Amino acid sequence: MPSGPHHSAEAARLVVLVSGSGTNLQALLDAATPSFGAVIVAVGADRDGIEGLARAERAGVPTFVERVADHAGRDEWDEALAGKIAAYKPDLVVSAGFMKILGRRVLDSFPVVNTHPALLPSFPGAHAVRDALAYGVRVTGCTVHLVDTGVDTGPVIAQEAVPVREGDDEETLHERIKTVERRLLVEVVGRMAREGWTVSGRRVRLGRA
Ligand code: GRF
Repeated sequence: MPSGPHHSAEAARLVVLVSGSGTNLQALLDAATPSFGAVIVAVGADRDGIEGLARAERAGVPTFVERVADHAGRDEWDEALAGKIAAYKPDLVVSAGFMKILGRRVLDSFPVVNTHPALLPSFPGAHAVRDALAYGVRVTGCTVHLVDTGVDTGPVIAQEAVPVREGDDEETLHERIKTVERRLLVEVVGRMAREGWTVSGRRVRLGRA
Protein backbone atom coordinates (compact mmCIF):
# COMPACT_ATOMS: atom_id res chain seq x y z
CA MET A 1 0.00 0.00 0.00
CA PRO A 2 1.48 3.33 -0.96
CA SER A 3 1.70 5.57 2.07
CA GLY A 4 3.92 7.98 3.83
CA PRO A 5 4.37 11.60 4.67
CA HIS A 6 5.88 14.21 2.45
CA HIS A 7 9.11 15.13 4.25
CA SER A 8 10.65 17.76 2.04
CA ALA A 9 10.34 21.48 2.63
CA GLU A 10 10.09 21.89 -1.14
CA ALA A 11 6.84 21.67 -3.08
CA ALA A 12 5.64 18.12 -3.67
CA ARG A 13 5.93 16.93 -7.26
CA LEU A 14 2.66 15.74 -8.80
CA VAL A 15 2.12 13.70 -11.94
CA VAL A 16 -1.56 13.88 -12.95
CA LEU A 17 -3.14 11.16 -15.11
CA VAL A 18 -6.15 11.98 -17.29
CA SER A 19 -8.34 10.37 -19.97
CA GLY A 20 -10.87 13.06 -20.84
CA SER A 21 -11.91 16.65 -20.38
CA GLY A 22 -9.51 17.27 -17.50
CA THR A 23 -11.56 19.69 -15.43
CA ASN A 24 -10.17 18.13 -12.25
CA LEU A 25 -6.69 18.61 -13.68
CA GLN A 26 -7.58 22.24 -14.43
CA ALA A 27 -8.64 22.77 -10.81
CA LEU A 28 -5.23 21.44 -9.69
CA LEU A 29 -3.41 23.59 -12.26
CA ASP A 30 -5.29 26.66 -11.03
CA ALA A 31 -4.59 25.81 -7.39
CA ALA A 32 -0.89 25.08 -7.76
CA THR A 33 0.48 28.41 -6.54
CA PRO A 34 3.60 28.39 -4.28
CA SER A 35 1.53 28.30 -1.07
CA PHE A 36 -0.32 25.19 -2.29
CA GLY A 37 2.75 23.08 -1.55
CA ALA A 38 2.66 21.06 -4.78
CA VAL A 39 3.60 21.55 -8.41
CA ILE A 40 2.34 19.58 -11.39
CA VAL A 41 5.49 18.35 -13.08
CA ALA A 42 3.78 16.31 -15.83
CA VAL A 43 0.41 15.16 -17.14
CA GLY A 44 0.03 11.66 -18.54
CA ALA A 45 -2.78 10.08 -20.54
CA ASP A 46 -3.80 6.73 -21.98
CA ARG A 47 -5.00 8.34 -25.23
CA ASP A 48 -4.19 11.22 -27.59
CA GLY A 49 -6.25 14.21 -28.57
CA ILE A 50 -8.05 14.86 -25.31
CA GLU A 51 -8.82 18.20 -23.71
CA GLY A 52 -6.93 17.15 -20.57
CA LEU A 53 -3.66 17.09 -22.54
CA ALA A 54 -4.51 20.40 -24.20
CA ARG A 55 -5.05 21.97 -20.78
CA ALA A 56 -1.60 20.80 -19.67
CA GLU A 57 0.00 22.12 -22.86
CA ARG A 58 -1.67 25.52 -22.42
CA ALA A 59 -0.28 25.62 -18.88
CA GLY A 60 3.21 24.75 -20.14
CA VAL A 61 3.27 21.41 -18.32
CA PRO A 62 5.04 18.48 -20.05
CA THR A 63 2.78 15.66 -21.22
CA PHE A 64 3.14 12.00 -22.16
CA VAL A 65 0.82 9.38 -23.63
CA GLU A 66 1.02 5.63 -23.04
CA ARG A 67 -1.67 3.67 -24.92
CA VAL A 68 -2.54 0.10 -23.94
CA ALA A 69 -2.97 -0.76 -27.64
CA ASP A 70 0.71 0.00 -28.30
CA HIS A 71 1.81 -2.84 -26.01
CA ALA A 72 1.70 -6.63 -26.12
CA GLY A 73 -0.39 -6.66 -22.96
CA ARG A 74 -1.39 -4.89 -19.77
CA ASP A 75 1.83 -5.80 -17.95
CA GLU A 76 3.97 -4.25 -20.66
CA TRP A 77 1.78 -1.15 -20.64
CA ASP A 78 2.02 -0.93 -16.84
CA GLU A 79 5.82 -1.19 -17.05
CA ALA A 80 6.03 1.52 -19.73
CA LEU A 81 3.65 3.82 -17.87
CA ALA A 82 5.64 3.38 -14.65
CA GLY A 83 8.79 4.34 -16.55
CA LYS A 84 7.21 7.48 -18.01
CA ILE A 85 5.92 8.53 -14.60
CA ALA A 86 9.24 7.77 -12.88
CA ALA A 87 11.09 10.12 -15.23
CA TYR A 88 9.34 13.02 -13.46
CA LYS A 89 10.21 11.75 -9.95
CA PRO A 90 6.78 12.40 -8.44
CA ASP A 91 6.01 12.41 -4.73
CA LEU A 92 2.38 11.66 -5.56
CA VAL A 93 0.46 10.54 -8.64
CA VAL A 94 -3.08 11.88 -9.05
CA SER A 95 -5.53 9.88 -11.13
CA ALA A 96 -8.05 12.55 -12.16
CA GLY A 97 -10.53 10.96 -14.52
CA PHE A 98 -7.99 8.37 -15.70
CA MET A 99 -10.15 5.56 -17.07
CA LYS A 100 -7.72 2.63 -16.85
CA ILE A 101 -6.99 0.31 -13.98
CA LEU A 102 -3.41 0.92 -12.90
CA GLY A 103 -1.06 -2.06 -12.66
CA ARG A 104 1.24 -3.26 -9.90
CA ARG A 105 4.35 -1.69 -11.33
CA VAL A 106 2.87 1.81 -11.08
CA LEU A 107 1.20 1.16 -7.73
CA ASP A 108 4.33 -0.33 -6.14
CA SER A 109 6.41 2.64 -7.29
CA PHE A 110 4.33 5.66 -6.28
CA PRO A 111 1.49 6.61 -3.97
CA VAL A 112 -1.58 7.19 -6.16
CA VAL A 113 -4.72 9.08 -5.25
CA ASN A 114 -7.93 8.86 -7.28
CA THR A 115 -11.18 10.78 -7.42
CA HIS A 116 -14.40 8.82 -7.97
CA PRO A 117 -17.88 10.26 -8.63
CA ALA A 118 -19.80 8.22 -6.02
CA LEU A 119 -19.74 7.48 -2.31
CA LEU A 120 -17.61 4.34 -2.26
CA PRO A 121 -18.04 1.47 -1.65
CA SER A 122 -21.30 2.18 -3.48
CA PHE A 123 -21.08 2.29 -7.26
CA PRO A 124 -17.44 1.53 -8.10
CA GLY A 125 -16.35 1.29 -11.73
CA ALA A 126 -16.59 3.38 -14.85
CA HIS A 127 -20.34 4.14 -14.75
CA ALA A 128 -20.76 5.31 -11.17
CA VAL A 129 -23.15 8.17 -11.91
CA ARG A 130 -25.34 6.09 -14.24
CA ASP A 131 -25.41 3.24 -11.72
CA ALA A 132 -26.38 5.53 -8.82
CA LEU A 133 -29.23 7.02 -10.88
CA ALA A 134 -30.41 3.59 -11.98
CA TYR A 135 -30.44 2.39 -8.37
CA GLY A 136 -32.58 5.38 -7.38
CA VAL A 137 -30.43 6.73 -4.53
CA ARG A 138 -31.40 10.19 -3.25
CA VAL A 139 -27.88 11.06 -2.17
CA THR A 140 -24.62 10.25 -3.92
CA GLY A 141 -21.33 12.15 -3.97
CA CYS A 142 -17.64 11.77 -4.52
CA THR A 143 -14.72 9.98 -2.92
CA VAL A 144 -11.02 10.77 -2.92
CA HIS A 145 -9.10 7.60 -2.11
CA LEU A 146 -5.73 5.92 -2.30
CA VAL A 147 -5.48 3.48 -5.19
CA ASP A 148 -4.83 -0.21 -4.67
CA THR A 149 -5.00 -3.04 -7.22
CA GLY A 150 -8.80 -3.32 -7.00
CA VAL A 151 -11.43 -1.28 -8.81
CA ASP A 152 -12.05 1.75 -6.57
CA THR A 153 -11.33 -0.30 -3.44
CA GLY A 154 -8.43 1.63 -1.85
CA PRO A 155 -8.62 3.38 1.53
CA VAL A 156 -10.90 6.42 1.60
CA ILE A 157 -9.32 9.79 2.32
CA ALA A 158 -12.32 12.12 1.99
CA GLN A 159 -15.94 12.01 0.83
CA GLU A 160 -18.66 14.52 0.26
CA ALA A 161 -22.37 13.98 -0.37
CA VAL A 162 -24.30 15.43 -3.31
CA PRO A 163 -28.13 15.26 -3.54
CA VAL A 164 -29.86 13.64 -6.51
CA ARG A 165 -32.55 16.00 -7.80
CA GLU A 166 -35.87 15.18 -9.42
CA GLY A 167 -35.35 15.07 -13.16
CA ASP A 168 -31.60 14.57 -12.99
CA ASP A 169 -30.02 12.69 -15.85
CA GLU A 170 -26.47 11.32 -15.93
CA GLU A 171 -25.09 14.58 -17.28
CA THR A 172 -26.74 16.99 -14.84
CA LEU A 173 -25.94 14.80 -11.85
CA HIS A 174 -22.34 14.24 -12.94
CA GLU A 175 -21.83 17.99 -13.41
CA ARG A 176 -23.18 18.67 -9.89
CA ILE A 177 -20.87 15.99 -8.49
CA LYS A 178 -17.87 17.31 -10.42
CA THR A 179 -18.28 20.78 -8.94
CA VAL A 180 -17.82 19.25 -5.48
CA GLU A 181 -15.24 16.73 -6.66
CA ARG A 182 -12.85 19.37 -8.00
CA ARG A 183 -12.89 21.31 -4.73
CA LEU A 184 -12.43 18.15 -2.63
CA LEU A 185 -9.58 16.85 -4.80
CA VAL A 186 -7.70 20.16 -4.60
CA GLU A 187 -8.23 20.30 -0.84
CA VAL A 188 -7.04 16.73 -0.25
CA VAL A 189 -4.04 16.84 -2.60
CA GLY A 190 -2.94 20.16 -1.07
CA ARG A 191 -3.13 18.74 2.44
CA MET A 192 -1.28 15.56 1.43
CA ALA A 193 1.46 17.69 -0.10
CA ARG A 194 1.77 20.11 2.80
CA GLU A 195 1.10 17.86 5.76
CA GLY A 196 1.83 14.32 4.62
CA TRP A 197 -0.30 11.32 5.49
CA THR A 198 -0.19 7.97 7.21
CA VAL A 199 -2.10 4.79 6.44
CA SER A 200 -3.11 2.28 9.06
CA GLY A 201 -5.21 -0.53 7.64
CA ARG A 202 -8.06 1.22 5.85
CA ARG A 203 -7.64 4.47 7.78
CA VAL A 204 -5.87 7.37 6.12
CA ARG A 205 -4.82 10.19 8.38
CA LEU A 206 -3.79 13.51 6.92
CA GLY A 207 -1.23 15.49 8.85
CA ARG A 208 1.89 14.66 10.78
CA ALA A 209 1.78 11.56 12.97
C1 GRF B 1 -14.67 12.70 -12.82
O1 GRF B 1 -16.00 12.71 -12.35
C2 GRF B 1 -13.94 11.50 -12.32
O2 GRF B 1 -14.21 11.15 -11.02
C3 GRF B 1 -14.48 10.48 -13.27
O3 GRF B 1 -14.44 11.10 -14.52
C4 GRF B 1 -14.61 12.50 -14.32
C5 GRF B 1 -13.43 13.19 -14.94
O4 GRF B 1 -13.72 14.50 -15.23
N1 GRF B 1 -13.81 9.23 -13.17
P1 GRF B 1 -12.61 15.50 -15.78
O5 GRF B 1 -11.90 14.80 -16.94
O6 GRF B 1 -11.67 15.83 -14.67
O7 GRF B 1 -13.38 16.69 -16.27
